[in-house]
Amino acid sequence: MVYLRLSPILGSGIVLLCLVLGAVRAYELELKLKDSGKATCLYAKWQMNFTIYYETINKTNESVTISDLGPVTYNESTCGDGKNSPKIVVQFGSGFSWVVNFTKDASDYSIDSILFSYNTSNKSIFPDAEDKGVITVHDRWAIRVPLNDIFRCYSLWTVEMNDVVQHYWNVLVQAFVQNGTVSKKEYVCDKDKPSTTLAPIIHTTVPSPTTPSTPKEKPEVGTYSVSNGSSTCLLAKMGLQLNITQDKVSTVININPNTTSVTGSCQPQTAQLRLNSSNIKYLEFVFAMKNENRFYLKEVHVSMYLVNGSDFSTSNNNLSYWDAPLGSSYMCNKEQTVSVSGAFQINTFDLRVQPFNVMEGKYSTAEECSADSDLNFLIPVAVGVALGFLIIVVFISYMIGRRKSRTGYQSV
Ligand SMILES: *[C@@H]1O[C@H](CO)[C@@H](O)[C@H](O)[C@H]1NC(C)=O
Ligand SMILES: *[C@@H]1O[C@H](CO)[C@@H](O)[C@H](O)[C@H]1NC(C)=O
Ligand SMILES: *[C@@H]1O[C@H](CO)[C@@H](O)[C@H](O)[C@H]1NC(C)=O
Ligand SMILES: *[C@@H]1O[C@H](CO)[C@@H](O)[C@H](O)[C@H]1NC(C)=O
Ligand SMILES: *[C@@H]1O[C@H](CO)[C@@H](O)[C@H](O)[C@H]1NC(C)=O
Ligand SMILES: *[C@@H]1O[C@H](CO)[C@@H](O)[C@H](O)[C@H]1NC(C)=O
Ligand SMILES: *[C@@H]1O[C@H](CO)[C@@H](O)[C@H](O)[C@H]1NC(C)=O
Repeated sequence: MVYLRLSPILGSGIVLLCLVLGAVRAYELELKLKDSGKATCLYAKWQMNFTIYYETINKTNESVTISDLGPVTYNESTCGDGKNSPKIVVQFGSGFSWVVNFTKDASDYSIDSILFSYNTSNKSIFPDAEDKGVITVHDRWAIRVPLNDIFRCYSLWTVEMNDVVQHYWNVLVQAFVQNGTVSKKEYVCDKDKPSTTLAPIIHTTVPSPTTPSTPKEKPEVGTYSVSNGSSTCLLAKMGLQLNITQDKVSTVININPNTTSVTGSCQPQTAQLRLNSSNIKYLEFVFAMKNENRFYLKEVHVSMYLVNGSDFSTSNNNLSYWDAPLGSSYMCNKEQTVSVSGAFQINTFDLRVQPFNVMEGKYSTAEECSADSDLNFLIPVAVGVALGFLIIVVFISYMIGRRKSRTGYQSV
């Protein structure tokens, strides 16, 4: 570091200054790792914060944002050896850890994966949290950077992993540093490149669909289908409303089927329905089979541009919704909510889906959600009551008729 080369008095002054600044800006992280020969082998400087959504003991959802990490340690960070890959390990608070690891091939190195753990037992950070102990979320990035280049991304970059929303900015990182010298040659991320980013273009050309609609307005029902060669293999009909909650603010977006295109695929065990539009890069529903004779909605993946031009993406591959027997369709006319993550929900309206065993492009008999069947249960009851009433009316009129005709005969 620069100050080590300065005179001791000035140096300690700057160290002190750095410590003071460090206390204020504790979220700026910097790490310079040296190998056994004292040569720099890994360098990183970055800022990050985390918003964590959690469930309380009262079954409500809360979130906490951690931007000041407090004192951090890098003790378990390593440049790796023949067997182990380099990694940066940041530990802070009680039970928080953040790990990124790197791999390399002949020409590039990769920022491979991110692993983040937090401790829901810590009541001072997660008040009233349902104690789920230490939760670890994981995401594979696989960002490739040419060897001997330093990766730079100053732009804000948002990543969502299950219930954790992570923001990164002012990122500089180089793994597999050669000859102990951190490179001056920057490999710049797409978001830092001025003209080639897609988001602003989309933002300016399509202003209206990104405008959040009023939450109460129901979305229009769209019909979607996926073909396998010449035959239809997946059918869906639904009104979709997306609900994105960030920093306690919810944005509700109705999907307009007129401007939404559909793709997808059908395999023997899984089926995908993928929607996209100008502001939705993709919204993917993945169906799977359960116990050989039922299907269900297993995964949802979404990536979209928000009104302010920022990216939002999330996914969940362990859902359990829309469960029905194979060879039938799942139907729910009432509003239903698919909760994908703490920050993302989908409200569905007039839903009907059949991801497997579609015959001649038509829906098979429907298995209805319990919310609907309450209503349907009332229909036979109502019909029964009406019929019973009719029988009584007919019987009474018959009796009256008979009595009248009898008295009639007598009077003649
Ligand atoms: C999680 O927090 C609880 C309560 O503060 C503590 O007892 C426990 O040791 C922590 N676990 C880890 C792995 O840090
Ligand atoms: C990096 O970490 C992830 C998550 O722990 C792991 O799955 C992956 O194998 C690691 N990669 C290497 C090269 O060690
Ligand atoms: C590292 O040092 C070797 C030998 O001095 C040299 O050939 C090589 O070009 C250097 N690499 C970099 C990236 O400076
Ligand atoms: C959107 O999600 C938030 C947080 O889960 C919830 O409070 C709000 O009622 C939802 N809005 C709609 C229209 O579903
Ligand atoms: C979609 O198109 C139909 C028929 O052209 C039209 O009636 C409807 O208003 C359109 N919906 C939206 C949200 O633009
Ligand atoms: C966009 O809006 C979201 C939600 O309000 C916010 O979290 C995010 O920081 C904003 N992004 C930018 C680039 O302003
Ligand atoms: C998936 O969810 C079920 C219950 O909802 C849970 O038991 C299971 O452990 C989860 N699996 C994974 C891989 O998260």
